[in-house]
Formats: sequence, C-alpha cells, structure tokens
Amino acid sequence: MNLSRRSILKSLGLSTLALTTFDLFGKTNEFQSSMPEADDPEYWKKIRDQFTLSKDKVFFNTGTVGAMPKVVVDKMVEHTRYLAENVADWAYKDDNKEEFISGYNNLIPIRTRVAKLLNATVAEIAMTDNVTNGMSYIANGITLQPGDEILTTDQEHSGGKGGWLVKEKRYGVVFKTAVVPKPAKSSSEVYDSIVKALTPRTKVLMLSHMISGSGAILPVKELCAEASKRGIFTVLDGAQTIGQIKVDVKDLGCDVYLGCFHKWMGAPAGTGFMFVKADRMKEIWTTVASTKWDDHADEGFRFTQRGTGNFPVLKGLEAALDFHAEIGPDRVYARIKFLGERLRTGLRQNKKVKIFSPSDETMCAGITVYNVDGLTGTQLQDAYWAKAKMRPRSQGDQFGVRHCTNIFNSPEEIDKAIAIVKELSA
Ligand SMILES: Cc1ncc(COP(=O)(O)O)c(C=O)c1O
Repeated sequence: MNLSRRSILKSLGLSTLALTTFDLFGKTNEFQSSMPEADDPEYWKKIRDQFTLSKDKVFFNTGTVGAMPKVVVDKMVEHTRYLAENVADWAYKDDNKEEFISGYNNLIPIRTRVAKLLNATVAEIAMTDNVTNGMSYIANGITLQPGDEILTTDQEHSGGKGGWLVKEKRYGVVFKTAVVPKPAKSSSEVYDSIVKALTPRTKVLMLSHMISGSGAILPVKELCAEASKRGIFTVLDGAQTIGQIKVDVKDLGCDVYLGCFHKWMGAPAGTGFMFVKADRMKEIWTTVASTKWDDHADEGFRFTQRGTGNFPVLKGLEAALDFHAEIGPDRVYARIKFLGERLRTGLRQNKKVKIFSPSDETMCAGITVYNVDGLTGTQLQDAYWAKAKMRPRSQGDQFGVRHCTNIFNSPEEIDKAIAIVKELSA
C-alpha cells in the first residue's frame, strides 16, 4: 500500500522539477539556497495543478477548512477500497501493526512523523480529530481548584475556549480574558496586555498562536517564558499555524500545543494532534478512555486510543505530510506570506478599507481580515462570489471578511480581489 517517496513525486508530476532543481529531502539549508522565488510562476502553477479544486472558482477560506491535493484524496480512496475488499483478512492479532481501524492502534508511524514536524518525541504526541477535542482533553483532564484562573485573550475561537468554559461552570475556576488590540500594532503591545492580566491565581495561560479572526501571530514564545517563570501551565492553540508557519514546540517552550492538519496542511477533515511536554503528561487525566486510559508507558497512546476511527483519513494525512515535505515548509511559508503581503499592500492603498490584521507585517502571514466602508462581511463575501466566484469568509458586520492565501492561490487572484474591493468602494 505504501508508495515510495520517488513514486509520490512522480505521481505529483513534480519528479523532474523537484529532483533536479531542488533536493527536497532532509537538506533544509541547501535547498533553501536553491529555493525558487516565492512568485516563481512556473513552479507554483505546477503546485496549483496538484489540487482538484475547480479552476473556475477561487478559494480563500483555508482558515475554515483547506483544499486537499489530489494525492491526498487518492490515498484516502485507495485505502477505503482496500479496507472494503480486505477486511476479512484482518486477524486482529497485532492491532498495532494493522491499518483497518484507528482508535485502538498506537499509530506510531504517523505519530513519529508529527513528532518530527514539531520537534517533539513520539510519546509527547497523541492523534486527535481536531483542535476542539484536543483542547477539551486538556481542559477536562487538568486538575484545578475553585478560584484558580485561566487567562486567555478576548479573541479566542469557540473550539479553543469551550472546554475551559465548561470547566468554569462545573468546577468554579475563573475564565479571564485579556484585551488584545485589533488591529495589533506590535508584539510588545500584545505581550504587555497579556502579562498585565496575569495574577498570582493564574494557573493556565491559553493562547492562539495565530488568532483566527485577525491572523495576528502572537509573541507566544516570550509569553510562555514569562508564564513558566511564574509556574503557569501554558497551552497554545495552533489551529491556524500547522502547514502555514513552522512550529517548534521545544523552541516555543509551551506545555501543550494543539493543532490540526485539515486547514493549511491540506489533509482530510478530522485530523488533529495534541502535544503535551513529557514531564507534564502525568498531570492530564484521560477524557475519552479505553484500555490504555491509565497506562503511562506511552502517554501519547493513552490519548490516541479513543475508540473506532477512520484509517483512510490517516492515510490521507500521511500523503498531505509528504506533499508538504516535498515542497518544503520554508517554501510553503514564503509563498503564503508573499501572497498575504501582496493582498495587504494592495488593500492599504485603498482609503475605504479598514484592515484588522496587525499593521506590523512580522506578525502576519496568510490571514488578512478587512472590511470596506459601508459593507457588512456578508455583503462583501456575497459580492466576491457574484463578481468572480471568489470565496473568502464573512467575519460579521464589523470585521468584514477573512481572506486566506494558500499555496494554490496566485498573484493574479490577489490582484483581482484588490480590484474588486476598489470597485466596491468606488
Ligand atoms: C484558533 C482556532 N482554534 C480552534 C479552532 C477549531 O478547530 P477544529 O475545527 O480543528 O476543532 C479553530 C477553527 O477555525 C481556530 O481557528
């Protein structure tokens, strides 16, 4: 069932380009120096061609759910067919090596890959379905006393804060929010507003690494360092980062990092992970419990074992990780950032546009949130669709639309979007 790396490259139609122009595997520094420009049209057209996304529509809503490359879809379909045809072959002797259902299997191969991607160890990684359930495992699993405080920002996603709100109502802990400016002007301004809100009762600091409603990359490394100095447990929500910007959990110094692959990484929906630092794992009770619920030999397995799951989705995830690795995380980031910055630069020329993403470009990548004077988010979203079948996502009356630029988007699409906004604001 496993395609070799070379045959995957071939199946992507990138074999010649990738193997001759770049050495894509394991030589980050070398291939960076031979990296094509972030706007190398020929290269990025080849990448666009790997997606089955309709060519007559333009997708700008990766922040909700990403488009999958063809190789991901093919892998899922292939494994689904394999299961349907061969389930009778399954002797259920060594489930850890079988690939029929997930949720009982320790999933070492895929956890190893995720661990490597994040600079973690395998035991520190559990597979989850999404960020919401990972966050709920943490909020439900950590022991807190009534009156203990959880600090977060005023701009967290419901899936990031929901588990903590349950905890507040059920156990009498206090859920507090620090106000983060929107748009943010600088990392230090964000840092100060969050640190000012820490108190001696703060036991958990939970933050989005990248805020979904503005695209702001928060100074989480500095904030985790300050929180750790005060003995505060740090939890980062990386729903918007994985597959967009590089994440090194050791460098960030967080206790927990939660992420998903179904947005920026192009993996099938229902693929997420939970990283918990080795020395903090024991503090988290299992929430969805099966045989391994109290087995600490492989902590990541304890959380990964959560009942019957869908193996073809994990096969699709493997293909998405290969696809990402073949292009290279640096190149992916460079392209996303190039397109995002092009959009923001164009929109900034328009006096009728208000941008809610940070004014400091170092805090931005592929998410831009903006509105046009006199329009609601829904009106702007609908106008994009009516005029050019473009799909950003409404952020409500005040904040306009969230416009995500991913590797399958092009400078021409960005320029067209800027022109549409100009027309709408005329
Ligand atoms: C910052 C943030 N946290 C959590 C979530 C929820 O993610 P999931 O649907 O993977 O649970 C999202 C989804 O958009 C998000 O943007």
